[in-house]
This record gives sequence, C-alpha cells and structure tokens, in this order.
Amino acid sequence: MKKRFLAGAVMALSILGAPAVAQRSDNATTVTIDPAKPGAKIDRHIFGQFAEHLGTGIYGGVWVGPDSTIPNVRGIRSDVVAALRAIHVPNVRWPGGCFADEYHWRDGIGDPAKRGVSVNWNWGGATENNAFGTHEFFDFAEQIGADAYVSVNVGSGTIKEASDWIAYITADDRTTAGQERAANGQREPWKVKFLGIGNESWGCGGNMRPQYYTDQLKPYARFVRSFHPDQQTAPNTMQRIAVGPSDGDPAYTEGVMKAWSEKDWSWDIEGLSLHSYTVVRWPPAYDSVNFGEQEYAELTQATLRMEDHLKTHSAIMDKYDPEKKVGLVVDEWGVWLAKLPGTQEGFLQQQNSLRDAMIAALNFNIFARHADRVRGANIAQMVNVLQAMILTDGEKMLLTPTYYIHQMYLPFQDATLLPVSFNAGEYRQGEVVLPRVDAVAVRASDGKLWLSLVNLDPNRQASIEVEVPGVAARGASGTVLTAPQVNSVNTFAAPNTVVPAPISARASGGALTIQLPAKSVAMLAIEE
Ligand code: AHR
Repeated sequence: MKKRFLAGAVMALSILGAPAVAQRSDNATTVTIDPAKPGAKIDRHIFGQFAEHLGTGIYGGVWVGPDSTIPNVRGIRSDVVAALRAIHVPNVRWPGGCFADEYHWRDGIGDPAKRGVSVNWNWGGATENNAFGTHEFFDFAEQIGADAYVSVNVGSGTIKEASDWIAYITADDRTTAGQERAANGQREPWKVKFLGIGNESWGCGGNMRPQYYTDQLKPYARFVRSFHPDQQTAPNTMQRIAVGPSDGDPAYTEGVMKAWSEKDWSWDIEGLSLHSYTVVRWPPAYDSVNFGEQEYAELTQATLRMEDHLKTHSAIMDKYDPEKKVGLVVDEWGVWLAKLPGTQEGFLQQQNSLRDAMIAALNFNIFARHADRVRGANIAQMVNVLQAMILTDGEKMLLTPTYYIHQMYLPFQDATLLPVSFNAGEYRQGEVVLPRVDAVAVRASDGKLWLSLVNLDPNRQASIEVEVPGVAARGASGTVLTAPQVNSVNTFAAPNTVVPAPISARASGGALTIQLPAKSVAMLAIEE
C-alpha cells in the first residue's frame, strides 16, 4: 500500500519521464511505466555520428587507402565498417565541423594523384591531401549503411560552390554535373538526407551576427538543391539544417526561428542545429583516464545541463513554430576532455571511460524525453576524436564503452516514448547533488517494451522496482554496462574491460525487481 501511494505521488510530479527528485529512505526506486499513453516517436537519427577531417578521425581511422596492408574495401578499413554496421549508424555528418567552412569540394574529386593539397588550419595544421573526398565519403556511408549528412561551406565558400557540389552528388547523367560524377566512376546519383548550411557561424564559421547569418541562410536554403529523383516529394526531400545555438545561448535560436516564422514561399528549413559539449569549463582540462569521484560528479552534472538547453531552445522554437515543423538537431555533442599526453595538439585525442558511456546514456535519455522536438543528434566524433565509438592504432582497433551504449540503445531507434515516473533519489559528492537514477521506457518498433536505467551513484547498487499498470510483467532481461571503476577504459592490451553483460529482473505478482549495479547503464526488454 505504501509503495502504491509513493508511486502515485511521484507520478503527479512527473510528466513523460521527467524525473522527480524525492528520495525514499529504503534505497529502492519504483519506476512506473504507462504503456497506455504513448508519446512522441524517437527519431533514429538521434543516434547519428560526426566524422570530421580532424586528427586521425578520417585518415587512419576510416581511410587507409586501397594499398594498405590493413584490410580495406576501396581504401576504407573493414574492421571499422563492420563495427559501425553493427550499431546501425543512421547518419554520418561530414566533412566538419570547422573544417567544413574551409572545405572546397573540387579538391576532393577525380584522380587522387591530382587532388588539391591544403593545410587543415583548424586542426593541428595537418596536411590535407583530399584522398578522402566526395566519392570516398559516399562509399563509406553506403558501406556502413548510413544516410549522408553533408555540411556545405558558408564561411569561405559561395552559394554557387555549394549548389554545384550538391548537384554533382545528386543530379543524373543528363546534366553536366551528373556526367562529371559518372566520368569519375559513379553513374548513379547519391542522396543527401541532411544538408548542413554552415557550421557554428557564430564562431569558427565566420563569427556572424544572427541577422547576417539568416541573410546568408535564405539563398543557400533556396538554391542548394537535391536533384535526386527520390528526393522530390515530402517526406523524402533533403532536410536543410540551419546553424543554431551553442549551449544555452538563445541568440541564434531567436534569430533563425524569427526569420523562419516570417519567411515567404521561396525558402525553408527543416532543422535547427544545437552544439553542446560536456565540459566543466573551457578550455577542457579534465583528464580522460586519471580522474576521481569529484571530477566524475562534476562532469556528470555538466552533461545534465543538456536538459536545460533543450528546454530553453524548445520554448523559443515553440513560440515561432508551435506545430513543431522545424526539428532541433544536436549535431555536435559529447564529452570534451584534455588531450592524451604525447598526442598532437589539435588532434583532440582522448580515452573513453565507463563515465563517458554513462554520460552518453544520460544524453540519449534526455534526447528521448524531448523527442517531440529533437529529431537528430550527432555524437562528436566517430573514430579517434573526442568521445569516439572506436579507437584505432595502425592495424589495431578497439570498441569504447560509448560504442557499447550505442549497441544497447538499438531498440530506441524509431521507438515510441512511454511515460515513466520514478523517485530518482540523490547522489551527493561534495557540493554536487545529482539524481541517483534515470529511467526511460519505450515501445520499440517491433512492439516490445524496453526500459533504460542508469545508476549514477558510483558507490551504491540501486534496487529498482518496475510496475506496468494493466500489465502483469513476467520478467525482464537485457544487458548492463558497468566496470570496476568509473574511469575504467578499454585499451588495445585489455579491450574487454568495459563490455556489456547480461542482466535480468525477478518477477513477483506482476511487478519486477532489478538490482542495478553502482555506476551502470542497463537496457531491459520487459516480458508482458
Ligand atoms: O568537434 C570538434 C569541433 O567542435 C568542430 O569542428 C566544431 O564545429 C566544434 O567547435
């Protein structure tokens, strides 16, 4: 009776999974799922990834060249492709980032021996030989089964350069653009699912005022077209993503959405980008391996600000776009830490720990809770850069703890959000106070009921009771990711330190009890 009263009381405080922080003295958490009130669809594109010409993210991480002794298909390493295929990457954003606003696509087509050579000024002054260009990118996207998210150059490029590039990619061979592509070895046009119109135009993309950017945006949105025959009618048209805000700054959200609300027939956008990295302060100085509980708590606290940012920008977007026609696309997010000792300046190489995996799960849960507005997200970055899913060293490759979160969250792709309520409890470290438990429930596209659980407390197991009113749950099973320490990592010498393990629930009287280890993420399918 007491348990039912508590669950009901917390339910009153909690809407579609927003955790109510009210601690129970017995250290148990009751999660109540309401399958009768389905919410928004969780777009699979929130599991997108970002691959920039930066450090060894492309060169070495994806591209080794056709003559490499590392097994590859047309120069693209096969181990990385197999790993990425397994987690169903829905889209890959390329070629940047800051790099995109200095990228000139003609340098990256045609005979590799004759391609343009430049210097990657943003990222370590590396020589860019353009061996990985348009054809190699689309080959890679096809090999991993992902849609293409292409960011065009607004900063140092022109509308003509961008529209010529997308015509080269998408037009058929009746056109000069399509004939040139065919002459370079690709007769069939490719599709551009997402078009990024600039990158961080408030910063590295030209430090533009919102008004100046929106003046640029309009002709790009009008004239940069996909000519692909399958992209001519809704809902299959190319999705144009405008540069939007950084963290909680409302200036670009206001500027772009106001311009959009006043637009005429001649232009449109389908998405607004948000960039928000998990850092405690800039420049990022927290170590990716040698950190203690205080840094763990502070960084986790920093990542939970994503929830506030989404609320801030959603409220502004609701004001100008109550019908939610324009999606929010968090196309750069992740943990940004100090560079690993001995690595090159500007290459942004960091290790990836259990803490980072938990942070990824918390972000996926936040995106899922905002699925009515958040239609895409791209973790930064795919391989070897920032919060990577994969690390490589020559012919060696390892899967990071964050990779395994992507694998565990596969049932969330295109699932439907279900309301949950729970007494999150508290985890305290020094001055930092965080909710102890996080939970999101979904109805997957195959009809199964899934529950994601995070125990943020690095010291105490959580006892989770799950109730599904109207359903007599027969059991639940799935996987859990935990490790000896929050700073446990996978290394080339010990690649299986942080890997998922099976977990199951005990069923009794239609309810479930799960013992959730300290510092863990679990994903369970509930048997109804
Ligand atoms: O992901 C690294 C960089 O972070 C990107 O190039 C830029 O857009 C952002 O500032």
